[in-house]
Amino acid sequence: MTKGKVDALLGIVFGDEGKGKVVDVFTPRYDIVARFAGGPNAGHTIIFDGKKYVLRSIPSGIFDTGKINIIGNGCVIAPDLFMAEAKELEAAGYDIKSRLHISKRAHLILPTHRLLDRAYEAAKGKNKVGTTGKGIGPTYSEKAARTSLRVGDILERFEEKYLALKARHEQILRDLNFTGYDITEEEQLWMKGVEYMRQFKLSDTETEINKALREGKNVLAEGAQGTMLDIDHGTYPYVSSSNTVSGGVCTGLGVAPNTIGEIYGIFKAYSTRVGSGPFPVELFDATGDKIREIGHEYGAVTGRNRRCGWLDLVALKYAIMINGVTQLIMMKSDVLDTFDTIRVCIAYTKDGQTTTDMPYDTEGWQAVYKDLPGWNTDLTAMTSADQFPAELKAYISFIEAETHVPITIVSVGPDRAQTIEL
Ligand code: IMP
Repeated sequence: MTKGKVDALLGIVFGDEGKGKVVDVFTPRYDIVARFAGGPNAGHTIIFDGKKYVLRSIPSGIFDTGKINIIGNGCVIAPDLFMAEAKELEAAGYDIKSRLHISKRAHLILPTHRLLDRAYEAAKGKNKVGTTGKGIGPTYSEKAARTSLRVGDILERFEEKYLALKARHEQILRDLNFTGYDITEEEQLWMKGVEYMRQFKLSDTETEINKALREGKNVLAEGAQGTMLDIDHGTYPYVSSSNTVSGGVCTGLGVAPNTIGEIYGIFKAYSTRVGSGPFPVELFDATGDKIREIGHEYGAVTGRNRRCGWLDLVALKYAIMINGVTQLIMMKSDVLDTFDTIRVCIAYTKDGQTTTDMPYDTEGWQAVYKDLPGWNTDLTAMTSADQFPAELKAYISFIEAETHVPITIVSVGPDRAQTIEL
C-alpha cells in the first residue's frame, strides 16, 4: 500500500472469491474505494457483527463511514437495483449520499437491456452463456456501438433520450420474436431509481481520483468477476462483457498505468464457476458436492449451484501473468478442512498433448493433478499463521513455488475477523 497509488484487488479465476470481504478489511488503509468494471452481475458479500450484506454495484468500502466510494466510468449501473441496494444501506443506518460518487461516464442498464439479455440467451439455445440476466452484455455492446446512455444523460432531456433508446430496443425484441413481456411496473421503479440517483454526486470521477492521487491519497480498485470471465482473456464467449483484469483499472477509472501500485490477486483454495463454459477441473462426483455444501457455493446474485473443482494452477498462473499480480490472497481455506487428500491441477491434457499454458480454447481439456495431503484440522478459530497445520503450510508453499508470488493473506472463514495476514 503506497500513498498516491491505486492498488487493485482482483478476482483472478472465475469470480466469487470473496473480494467484498477483503475490500472491507483493507478499506481502513485507503482513502477511496472504487469499482471500475461490471455492474449488478456482481454479488460481493460482507459479514460483520453477525450481519450479512450483499453489494452489487456499490463498492465494499462503503461500511467505513470516513471513506469515499466511487462507481467508476467502466461500470454499468441499473438505477432501480442501485436504489434498492443503497436504500438497504440507508435503512441500516449508513449515510451514503455524501460518500458515494458515481461517474457521469458510467453506462445505464435499461429495463429493455435486461429483456435483450434474456432474448439473446434464448436465441442461443444450448450455447447460452448462462448470464446473470442483469442486462450486462447488451449494455456493454451498446457502449461499444456508441448508442448507449450514460449516467450524465440523466441530468438533461433524459426522458426524450430514454424513449428513443427504448424504442430501438423494442424493435430489436420484435425482430427476435421476443414478445409478451410487460415492463410497466419495472419501468416505473427504474424511473424512481433515476430520480434517486440524482441525489448522489454524479461527477467526473477520473478527475476526482487523479486529484486525490496528486494529493498523496491512495485508492483501492475493487474488481468484479474474475480474469477467466474477462471479455478479452477469459473463456470467450462464456465470459462477462467488461475487462475485469488490471488493465481494466486504468480504463475503468481513468488512471494511468504508472499510478498502479500493488495488484492483489484473490483466489479460493479450490475452484468454482457459475454459468456455462469449459471448466477442466470440474468435479461431477461426491467430492464436488461436498465442496459446494461446505463452501455454500450458490450464486450470490442468481442462487444457482456453482460448479466446483480443485484449484487450477494453469488458470492461476495465466491470471497472474495477465494481471501482473504482486501478492496472492487465498480465500475459503477452511472449506478444505475435512479432505484427506487435496488435489491441485498442474497441467491440462488433450489428445496426448499436455500444456501448462492456458490454451486458446479450454473445451475438451482434462486436468492433470498433483495430490497433496489434507490437514484435517479446523482452521476457523485460528488467528495466526503460526497455528497453521504443517499440511496447510505445505499447500501454501507449493502454490507459492509454482506461481512465484507470495500468499500474504489466508482467509479461514466468512467473518472479517477470520482473515490471517502472513
Ligand atoms: P453476465 O456478466 O451476466 O453477462 O454473465 C456472463 C457470465 O459471467 C455468466 O457465466 C455469469 O454466470 C458469469 N458472471 C457474471 N458475474 C459474475 C460474478 O460476479 N461472479 C461469478 N460469475 C459471474
